[in-house]
Amino acid sequence: MSGIKGTKCKALLRVLVPWVLLTNIILALYCLTNPSQKSLITQSHSKECTPRTNIMFMKTHKTGSSTILNILFRFGEKHKLRFAFPDGRNDFFYPSPFLCSQVKDYRPGECFNIVCNHMRFDHQEVSKLLPPDSVYITILRDPVDLFESSFHYYHRAVPLTWKIRGENKLTEFLNSPRAFYSPEAFNSFYLKNLLFFDFGLDNNLEADDPRVMKEIKNLSKRFHLVLIAEYFEESLILLKDLLCWTMEDILYFKLNARRSSSVSHLDAEMRVKALQWNGADWKLYQHFNATLWARVEAYGRERMKLEVEELRRRNAEMKDICIEGGRAVEAQKIENSRFLPWQPVGETSILGYNMKKDTDPRFRTLCEKMLTPEIQYLSELGVSLWITRLWGWLKDAIY
Ligand SMILES: *[C@@H]1O[C@H](CO)[C@@H](O)[C@H](O)[C@H]1NC(C)=O
Ligand SMILES: *[C@@H]1O[C@H](CO)[C@@H](O)[C@H](O)[C@H]1NC(C)=O
Repeated sequence: MSGIKGTKCKALLRVLVPWVLLTNIILALYCLTNPSQKSLITQSHSKECTPRTNIMFMKTHKTGSSTILNILFRFGEKHKLRFAFPDGRNDFFYPSPFLCSQVKDYRPGECFNIVCNHMRFDHQEVSKLLPPDSVYITILRDPVDLFESSFHYYHRAVPLTWKIRGENKLTEFLNSPRAFYSPEAFNSFYLKNLLFFDFGLDNNLEADDPRVMKEIKNLSKRFHLVLIAEYFEESLILLKDLLCWTMEDILYFKLNARRSSSVSHLDAEMRVKALQWNGADWKLYQHFNATLWARVEAYGRERMKLEVEELRRRNAEMKDICIEGGRAVEAQKIENSRFLPWQPVGETSILGYNMKKDTDPRFRTLCEKMLTPEIQYLSELGVSLWITRLWGWLKDAIY
């Protein structure tokens, strides 16, 4: 008996040993081509897990994603990670579908650590850039508020809306969307199911089309965590847990907030219209809102409550240390152009911050980084932004 077992064991070993060797060699090769992995070994971490450093953040529009981007930039800088950046601009040729050839310095077979700029998602293309163990995350927001925000930000870029008369263009649009919308029209995706579009899906599917739920199921297989803007802090705590990060890693100031007077407050009837118009996004949002809360439940409600309190306390502390006056101000009042956020066409509705002049020197750099808007931060990370800047210059010259 034991003899038979012995030969079986040997046969098994003969198969196993080369396998283990082979995977080790591949791993070693991978680490060599990916130097940032090594920096983790020297880093001390009290917890038993190792911080995850390979991350795909699908940056959706008008969802608070700029705040997440700032968190990722800071983490990536701190750990000397390799970002897959676009070239000449701040997005991957959005709204064209993403292609890995749009990444600066892309070479087939070589991996990056973080992908996080705006793109029209394509899982297959993205997966060519990242190690297979990468964590995929994204963020969604209530589609009614998202639609309102997108309309505010982009309607001037959608020519069909130019013929809307009257003061309240958003209400006019929602009362008869088909009069001002055509699936083929230039930039029309900004005004219908923008989330579906960002994920590379057909934004003109109606909510009851069976393909909508199928696409949502597909996405739920791709993404390890879907954050929800309305529950931003809970989402960040789940993110910290998933990535094995520290509280310090997820501290943030809300970036790119809009002046409240520029936000249209839709009444109940208009909200229903906006929901129906963006029915596919609504289904998407509801699905992932439910999965978020199922995860909060699994994490522990009480534990979550304590962690959220801690995050709020530490954010408030940072606010005291860094921000002049303790809150965001209008663009005109921002003294240092380094902290001036990008403004929509024909508007200056995006708020920003002034940094305290007498910041404790120990926190100076952290404050600066936490307050730096996306475009300036990209520049500091070495991204050439000449196309974005040219567009910005044209935009300001025309309006
Ligand atoms: C979902 O994913 C599968 C497999 O990748 C793909 O064939 C299909 O077209 C996707 N979409 C739908 C609506 O099923
Ligand atoms: C999201 O989920 C929470 C918790 O279940 C619920 O209270 C909230 O109403 C949901 N939001 C939407 C828009 O469905």
